[in-house]
Amino acid sequence: MSTSPCILLGVTGSIAAYRAAELVRLMFTRDWDVHVLMTRWATEFVGKLTFQTLSRHPVGVEMFGGDVDWRPEHIEAADRADAMVIAPCTANVMAKLAHGLADDLLTSTVLACQAPLIVAPAMNVHMWDHPATQANLAILKKRGVQIVEPAVGDLACGYEGKGRLAPLEQILAAVDAVLAGKG
Ligand SMILES: Cc1cc2nc3c(=O)[nH]c(=O)nc-3n(C[C@H](O)[C@H](O)[C@H](O)COP(=O)(O)O)c2cc1C
Repeated sequence: MSTSPCILLGVTGSIAAYRAAELVRLMFTRDWDVHVLMTRWATEFVGKLTFQTLSRHPVGVEMFGGDVDWRPEHIEAADRADAMVIAPCTANVMAKLAHGLADDLLTSTVLACQAPLIVAPAMNVHMWDHPATQANLAILKKRGVQIVEPAVGDLACGYEGKGRLAPLEQILAAVDAVLAGKG
């Protein structure tokens, strides 16, 4: 039986979703057992096949209609995880997490998962600065969610400011800390 840490990686509908592909590759080269869950909108940015190939596991998107055993897929995945990471995390998923919404496979899995949660948001600078997003961020921090804050720089939307997905090394370091029990 594998002793590799099991990491659940959630990918959401951000332009930064393409960077999650490299994140999976880096996790895989660390010998982590990576399982990817995507929101439906994330699949508009990067195909499931990319994550399936890099992680060497099926990718979860849909809550219903999959070829599942008697236990729902998200409960299986949640039970296996040593850490759950959402990178990139949209403003929308941050809001859902803050308020406990569970209307898709990814957000349902978050509620079912008892492993530490690491969230790396990525969005337009005005979305990040919006009082609603900042209030959701405060809720998540207060709950003990590890936030890898976005970086400042040029944004894909044409603006400049805080909103870029953090460097992948920072996200990996946050997972390392959690796996070492220091997160
Ligand atoms: C080209 C494009 C890029 C986007 N990038 C982001 C982003 O980086 N962050 C974000 O919060 N929303 C972004 N959005 C909006 C989200 O895709 C939208 O809120 C969607 O409902 C998110 O769904 P999800 O949170 O279920 O993945 C983008 C939309 C488009 C069309």
